Amino acid sequence: MKLYKLADNTIDHKDYKNMIEFLKKRKYLNQSKVTQLFEKKFSNFLRTKFSVFVNSGSSANLLIAQTLLEGNFLKNKIAVLPAVSWSTTVSPFLQLGYKVILCDCDKTDLGLSYSHLEKICKKHNPGLVTVVNVLGHSNNFKKIISLQKKYNFKIVEDNCESMGSYFPNKNLGTFGLASSHSFYFGHHISTIEGGMVSTKDKKFYNILLAIRSHGWARDVQKNFRKKLEKSFKVDEFKSLYTFYYSGLNVRSTDFNANIGIQQLKKIKKISIIRNKNFNRYQKNLNQFWTQNSRLKLVSSFGYATFVQNRLEVFKYLKSKNIQTRPLICGNMGQQPFWRKKSKNSSQLPNAEFINKYGLYLPNHANLSFEDIDYICKNFNHCAKAIFFK
Ligand SMILES: Cc1ncc(COP(=O)(O)O)c(C=O)c1O
Repeated sequence: MKLYKLADNTIDHKDYKNMIEFLKKRKYLNQSKVTQLFEKKFSNFLRTKFSVFVNSGSSANLLIAQTLLEGNFLKNKIAVLPAVSWSTTVSPFLQLGYKVILCDCDKTDLGLSYSHLEKICKKHNPGLVTVVNVLGHSNNFKKIISLQKKYNFKIVEDNCESMGSYFPNKNLGTFGLASSHSFYFGHHISTIEGGMVSTKDKKFYNILLAIRSHGWARDVQKNFRKKLEKSFKVDEFKSLYTFYYSGLNVRSTDFNANIGIQQLKKIKKISIIRNKNFNRYQKNLNQFWTQNSRLKLVSSFGYATFVQNRLEVFKYLKSKNIQTRPLICGNMGQQPFWRKKSKNSSQLPNAEFINKYGLYLPNHANLSFEDIDYICKNFNHCAKAIFFK
């Protein structure tokens, strides 16, 4: 019996052939020129200035969190993180000693709740607001940026679930100081494991490059490196092992970058199919995500929905060979790691609703309309719908 997978591989037979050819030609596989080419191509795709390839979306978030601190980008270490997000969206900020405040989600787009964010800003005056674009949907950036103007925080965008979604003249992943992207299996494109940080800020870019590799200046732009060497009086020999920032090693390899270059060629096609599938779900389930009218294209990661009888639906769909998942973390405030680490808690009614009733259905570029109709038929057979109050 056919399995209706939640996510599928985007690396196909042609890509494997390409990998073999690449290996035949290369003596060295570590991060070098191919990585730079992939980064350039990714920046062009996203319509941003700079991109830095790393070994996962989680590492991209960690690298951003450390760069914000090392480059003194923030007025304070108070960070707002979405309650509906991913463990490694939040955990780098906890690990690096930020004071993390969870913000509730919006009912219509699953991004940050404007009213809750405003309350948090009034009370805590945060230096940073991180947003997650959930399952291909956009946050309400117009409203969030209006708060930014008033409270002067920096915005970081975790776009790991929404690559390829765009507005008529702007892509998701270009709204904040930096954004993160994931190329893990089942994401919009894959480099086996992999991630990217993108930014328009030159200083941020250079510090990212340094922290990605131990904190040294070998990979940063020439002028930036010269300035560092001058201000710390470092000679040519010493420069090889001089560490300017408290670094990490979150590099990937040229082998993975080469896969990324091939994968990028498919992203437009993949996003269009994901968008068509999303619209098919909307029609079949008679459910409408209102933010769909704001985005020109929803590069949907999975179809989010809410049911009263979630366990029953999960089991029934499983018996029909259809995979489902909780609507990402549900409410981060309820996750064991958060409860162990953080004493901060606030009322998060929408995230709590998602925690109880949220679930998402498969979407990927290998699903046909016939497949989606089968999934919806079975879903409609067992699901008892429930809606936000
Ligand atoms: C919102 C979000 N952020 C970060 C990540 C982590 O990405 P990776 O699996 O590449 O580490 C994920 C993973 O699915 C995610 O959904």
